This record gives sequence, structure tokens and C-alpha cells, in this order.
Amino acid sequence: MAKLGTTDLDVFPLCLGGNVFGWTADRAGSFAVLDAYAAAGGNFIDTADVYSAWVPGNSGGESETVLGEWLAERGNRGDVVIATKNGRLAPFEGLSAKAIHGAVDASLRRLGTDYIDLYYAHYDDPETPVEETVAAYDELVRAGKVRYVAVSNMSTDRIRASLAFADREGLARYAAIQPHYNLVERAGFERDVLPFASAENLATVPYYALAKGFLTGKYRPGSAVDSPRAKGAAAYLDERGVRVLDTLDRVAAAHGVPVAAVSLAWLAAQPTVAAPIASARTPEQLADLLPVGTLRLSDEELSALTTASN
Ligand SMILES: NC(=O)c1ccc[n+]([C@@H]2O[C@H](COP(=O)([O-])OP(=O)(O)OC[C@H]3O[C@@H](n4cnc5c(N)ncnc54)[C@H](OP(=O)(O)O)[C@@H]3O)[C@@H](O)[C@H]2O)c1
Repeated sequence: MAKLGTTDLDVFPLCLGGNVFGWTADRAGSFAVLDAYAAAGGNFIDTADVYSAWVPGNSGGESETVLGEWLAERGNRGDVVIATKNGRLAPFEGLSAKAIHGAVDASLRRLGTDYIDLYYAHYDDPETPVEETVAAYDELVRAGKVRYVAVSNMSTDRIRASLAFADREGLARYAAIQPHYNLVERAGFERDVLPFASAENLATVPYYALAKGFLTGKYRPGSAVDSPRAKGAAAYLDERGVRVLDTLDRVAAAHGVPVAAVSLAWLAAQPTVAAPIASARTPEQLADLLPVGTLRLSDEELSALTTASN
């Protein structure tokens, strides 16, 4: 466990992605993954109000509901750091004060708790001045509904303006950034987010840490994978993707660990990264990810992976 950036939140080095709950994992399957994660010492779970509204028959909130039911059945709310997000689920879309207040109460109800540890703005809302958003989030912190606020998918210019306003007015400032970042998706993070997060002393918690499954090594030339993520993940299987897989295979064999764990260990070793976020559909998949907690790659291995993905 380590503190998440400058917060008091003690978190496990792998954050468990919750977009599978109510999507590719049903209630029993989700409970099995959550139980396996907790049994391994995991305590950091990422969800969002909008998960998993894209599934036919769903309306959003399914992931939070499953997580809330699991917390209630296991009676372990106090042991878990819950991160959720707002901004994309009707009728509380956007980052206006009204939307934020409505969204947080709906999330708390579904999660069956009276506080959220880390509350992210899921996407920017260019229609709302950052001052209104920051002030609304500060009210949630003061009301005890949220411990820390954070941000995902917002330009560094708008985050900078948000932090400046929070500092000037003595309001709660974003404590972490959740960027899209992994071994085959580096440019946006390394160009914009990394220098900014380093300068502002902000922790980053990268999403799609496994590139939708590509970085587990199950997408290979000539192979077909049965997953709703297959189209997005297989798109990484170009010349560079093959080079990355070859290097991952070599490093994984040297350590006797699954390819997925090496992918996550590379990410965990990058500056500002507090914990990669990855999901698993089953406890067996999760078992492949857990070695990231103890796996340390050498400088040569890290730079070989970086070079392969250039
Ligand atoms: N802030 C944002 O905008 C944003 C956006 C996206 C995601 N997120 C968060 O980040 C989390 C991680 O992203 P993600 O879950 O979409 O993708 P991911 O972590 O990059 O990929 C996870 C998927 O890879 C496959 N997988 C995992 N372990 C495996 C193994 N050992 N063997 C074979 N396949 C394995 C599973 O999919 P299959 O078995 O179905 O192939 C699993 O659901 C999400 O759950 C969510 O919490 C945030």
C-alpha cells in the first residue's frame, strides 16, 4: 500500500476496474472477482455512474449497484477505497453545480454508502465555467459526501485553471488525474499530462492499462478473440504491436510471470503513476494481473519495452 499522491488514501498498487460489473461480468461473476481482489489485499476500486449504460437493457448505474451490494454483503466498506465518476449519466450530465449535486446523491444511493473516497469529473463540460464545478465539488467535500476530488479526460489548460481557482479561494483541489495511458498509448500522456502532473505534484491513475486486453498477449497474428473489446484491442496488432508483444514475452519469461503483469509493471514504474487501473472478468484473469504488486523490472527491461513501443 502507498498513499495516493498527497491524499491520505492508502491504496493497493493495482486499482480494480469496475466497468465489467454489469457488462462482461454478471453479479455472481463480479462478486467472485471482487472477493479474489480483496483476498489478495486489494482495496482500490474504480467505477462510474455511467457504467454500464452501453449494454442493451441497461440504463447506467449497474456497476455501482453491484459494488454497493458486494460492500453490503461483505460488510467491508471501511476497508475499501471507492473511486467513482460523474458527468455522463442522465439526468445529471455535465459538471454544473446542479448536475454534480444530483449525481453524487444518486451514486451514494447505489453504492449504499454515505461517502465516496475519490470522486472524478469523468469528462470535461466546456459549457460550465471551471469555477462553478470546483465550488460544487468543494461543497461535497465540506458536506462529507466525498473525501477527495479528481479529474479525467479534461485538458491540462482547464485543469490548471481549476487548480488556480481552488488555490485562490481555498477550495478542494483535484488530487489526481485519471488519464488514458498504457504501453501502446503513450503520446497524449507523455506530451501533456506527465509534465503537468509532475509540476503540480499530482498522482496519475491510468485507465485502459491493458489496452482493452491487448497487453495481456491474447491478441496475436492469426488468432481470434471472443470479447466485446476485441475490435478495439486487436487494432493495436500492427508492426509496433508485434514488437511490443515480443519484448513482453521475453521479459515475462525471464520473471516467470504473465505478460499482463509485465505490461502493468512497466506502467507502474512510470513517473507520477500511483496505480494502473485494469479490469478482470474472472478471478483467473485477475490472478494474471496481481503480480504487478511485487514485480520490479530492471532498467534494461523498462527501456527495452519503451523502445519497442516507440
Ligand atoms: N476515465 C475513463 O474515461 C475510463 C475509460 C475507460 C476505462 N476506465 C476505467 O479503467 C478500467 C480499465 O479499463 P478496461 O477495463 O476498459 O480495460 P483494460 O483494463 O485495458 O482491459 C481489461 C480487459 O482485458 C481482458 N483481460 C484482463 N485480464 C486478462 C487476462 N489475464 N487474460 C486475458 N484477458 C484479460 C478482459 O476483457 P475480456 O476478457 O472481455 O477480453 C478485461 O476486462 C475500467 O474498468 C474503468 O474502471 C476509465
